[in-house]
Amino acid sequence: MNNTYGVHGWNQPWGGADGYDWTQPDLHIEMAKALERARFDFLLMEDSLFVPDNYGGSMGFYLARALRAPKNDPVPLVPLIAQATTHLGIVPTISTSFYPPYLLARLIATLYLMSTGRVGCNFVTSTAERAAQNFGLDAHIEHDLRYEMADEFVEVVTKLWASWDEDAIVMDRETGMFVDPAKVRPIDFKGRFFASRGPLNTARPPQGRPVLVQAGGSPQGQDFASRHMDAVLCAVSTIEEMKVFRTDLRQRVAAAGRDPDACKVFFVILPTVGETDAEAKDRVRRRQAQREAAPELSLAQMASLTDIDFAAFDLDAPIGELTTNGQQGTLKRFLKQGRTLREIAHNYRYGYEDLVGTPETVAAQMAELMEELGGDGFVFTGSVTRRYIAEVTDGIAPALQRRGLVRTAYEHPHFRDNLMAF
Ligand SMILES: Cc1cc2nc3c(=O)[nH]c(=O)nc-3n(C[C@H](O)[C@H](O)[C@H](O)COP(=O)(O)O)c2cc1C
Repeated sequence: MNNTYGVHGWNQPWGGADGYDWTQPDLHIEMAKALERARFDFLLMEDSLFVPDNYGGSMGFYLARALRAPKNDPVPLVPLIAQATTHLGIVPTISTSFYPPYLLARLIATLYLMSTGRVGCNFVTSTAERAAQNFGLDAHIEHDLRYEMADEFVEVVTKLWASWDEDAIVMDRETGMFVDPAKVRPIDFKGRFFASRGPLNTARPPQGRPVLVQAGGSPQGQDFASRHMDAVLCAVSTIEEMKVFRTDLRQRVAAAGRDPDACKVFFVILPTVGETDAEAKDRVRRRQAQREAAPELSLAQMASLTDIDFAAFDLDAPIGELTTNGQQGTLKRFLKQGRTLREIAHNYRYGYEDLVGTPETVAAQMAELMEELGGDGFVFTGSVTRRYIAEVTDGIAPALQRRGLVRTAYEHPHFRDNLMAF
C-alpha cells in the first residue's frame, strides 16, 4: 500500500470521503479484510519520515496535493488489522537508519506475538536527506554505508529475537517457574554501528523471527536482501528487467549460501481493469493522457525518492547522467525511460503496467507472465480507493483462483509458511 497512512484520492472521483477520514483506520481495516477474503499473502505498508520539498525547492507542491504528507505512522494500524483478520501477513516498513535496533526488535516481537505469527518487517534504509535531518543528522549517511548499517541492524535484531529459546516459557506450577532462566541469554553484541546487551525482555516470536522483506534495487540492496530476506520486492516495467532481476537475485542468494527458493521475488504490478477489454484500454489511454498533461506529478514523485530537484531542469533537454545518495536503483530505472525529462515522465511506470482488460483477461496475462518468469508472484500497487481494492480482490483475485493459480484457502496459521507454500 503506497502512502499507507496518508491521504488517498481526496479529490478523485472514487476517493470517497478520504479527505475527511484519512486519519481513521477504517480504509485500512476494510482493505485488509478484502485482501484476506481474496487469500492474499500479505499487505505491505509503505512509510516515510519527512515532508518532501525536493520539487521546486519547497514543500508547497507536495503539501498542496497531499503527496506523501500529511501521513500518520502506520505501525499502530498493525494490531487493528491483526484483530480484524486471521491469516493475512502484515508488513510495516521500518527504517534501519533511524530506529534503535532494540526498540524495533521488541516492537516487532510484540506485534508478532500478538498476531500469532503474522507480522513481517519491510526494512528500508530511508533515502531522503530531509528524513536524516529530522533525526538530527546534517546530511544523510552515504548510500552504501547505509546498507552496511542495515546489514548489522538485521544481525542485532535477529540475535535479540533468538535470545530466548523456543521453550523458555515452562509455566511449571509445581516448581513455581514461569520462565526457565537457563533458556534466556544476553547477546552481548558490539558491532561497528550498534551495540546491544540483550536479552530481549519479551518472549521469542513464533518460528524465531518474523518474515523479513526488502525492496532495494541497487547491487548493495540486492546483496543485503540475499543474506537475510524472506521476500524482495522489485519495481520494474518490462519483462526483460524482471528476468534479469530475478536471475541476479537468485544467484546472489545462492552465493550467500542459501536456497534461492528461500527468498521470494515479487514484482510490482499496476493492472487496469474494465467491464470489457475495450473499456480497460480506454482507461489506460485516459491515464496516459493525464500523465502527459501533468509531467510534474511524476517528476515531483521521483524528486522525493531521489533527492534531485527535477523542476530545475529543462523538460526538453537531454538529461544525461545523474547520481544520487537517495534511491539509486530507482533513479537508474527512471533515467532509462527516455532521453529528456518530458519523455521520461511520459514513459514512467510504477511497475509493470501492461496488464489491461477484464479481470479474466488480466488473470490470463498474469498467468502468462508468471510462466515466463518462473516465479514467485506479484505485489499490486496503485492509487488506493475502495473501487481499486474491489477490482483487485473481487475481480482479479477470484479470476486467478478460478484458474487454479492462487490459493482458495490458507493452508497454514503462520505467515511464513503460507508465503513459502507458493
Ligand atoms: C515496492 C517498493 C516498496 C518500497 N517501500 C518503501 C518504503 O515504504 N519506504 C522507503 O523509505 N522506501 C521504500 N522503497 C524504496 C526501497 O527501500 C529502496 O530504497 C529503493 O528501491 C532503492 O533501492 P536502492 O537504495 O538499493 O537503490 C520501496 C521500494 C519498492 C520497489
